[in-house]
Amino acid sequence: MSIVNAKEMLIEATEGKYAVGAFNITNLAQMAAVVDAAVDKKSPLIIQTSVKPSKFYGRHVMVAIYRALAESAPIPICLHLDHCTDVEYCKACADSGYTNIMIDASKLPFEENIRQTKEVCDHCHALGGISVEGELGTVGGVEDQIKIAEDEAALCNPSQVLEFIERTGVDLFAPAIGTAHGVYKTKNPKVDFDRLGNIAQLVNGNGVKVPLVVHGGTGLPADYVTRLIELGGSKFNVSTELKHSLINKTYSYISEHRDEYDPGKVDAAVKDAIYEVVSNWIDMLGSAGKAI
Ligand code: 13P
Repeated sequence: MSIVNAKEMLIEATEGKYAVGAFNITNLAQMAAVVDAAVDKKSPLIIQTSVKPSKFYGRHVMVAIYRALAESAPIPICLHLDHCTDVEYCKACADSGYTNIMIDASKLPFEENIRQTKEVCDHCHALGGISVEGELGTVGGVEDQIKIAEDEAALCNPSQVLEFIERTGVDLFAPAIGTAHGVYKTKNPKVDFDRLGNIAQLVNGNGVKVPLVVHGGTGLPADYVTRLIELGGSKFNVSTELKHSLINKTYSYISEHRDEYDPGKVDAAVKDAIYEVVSNWIDMLGSAGKAI
């Protein structure tokens, strides 16, 4: 039950009006914490790596660790490659055993976005059972090596959505709706709820076909999250919060234990901190208990 791709999991979530957390991890302590939290909450789970950590450890290593953790876990778990702009690396990760791939050609002109997204979809679907996420519009902020300035970020144009989905064959769709990567500068970020609602109607109004993804989870107020789920968002990406947790906990633990030289204790402290962050997200997304 444990190694799965995201599409079926997210169709169930959309229908059940909850969402699944897609947590970006950069090391083993984080990956183990994310899995432990989801197992304890009996929640489906999407583990994500961006391209940088995938290349740092090597994609085969990432997949091997994921498989070892997922195979013994009693919940469905996916391994997703996040925001990859390189078609060939998308294909290589699919070949290595990632179960979901995001090709991010959203900065390119519409036709080129379609061409690249379709190429990755064709490859992944031919391998069997690997789902692909594509994006229209551009999500602002910084994720991995991709930086989109506020004035460059563009919201998804609903009139292009069905054509994009039909011509690419994409399994999961990420429309830019005003959420952003990184830390929001204001308590009430400007998110275009109606845009998500309209797109959800267009795509999934007659039965869920292509689950919708919300990027930029870190710092989204809880009432925004609830509303975005009600409107049809079923995959929530969370990255910055886990990175901050890792760095802050490492720093505070070492500052408080200057005479200790046991790296395992630093890892354990980080793991506990990430476990808490992920547990809170699972509660907020309503996915606890959905893996049974
Ligand atoms: P945050 O870093 O804002 O949580 O966004 C994560 C994300 O959307 C990754 O694709």
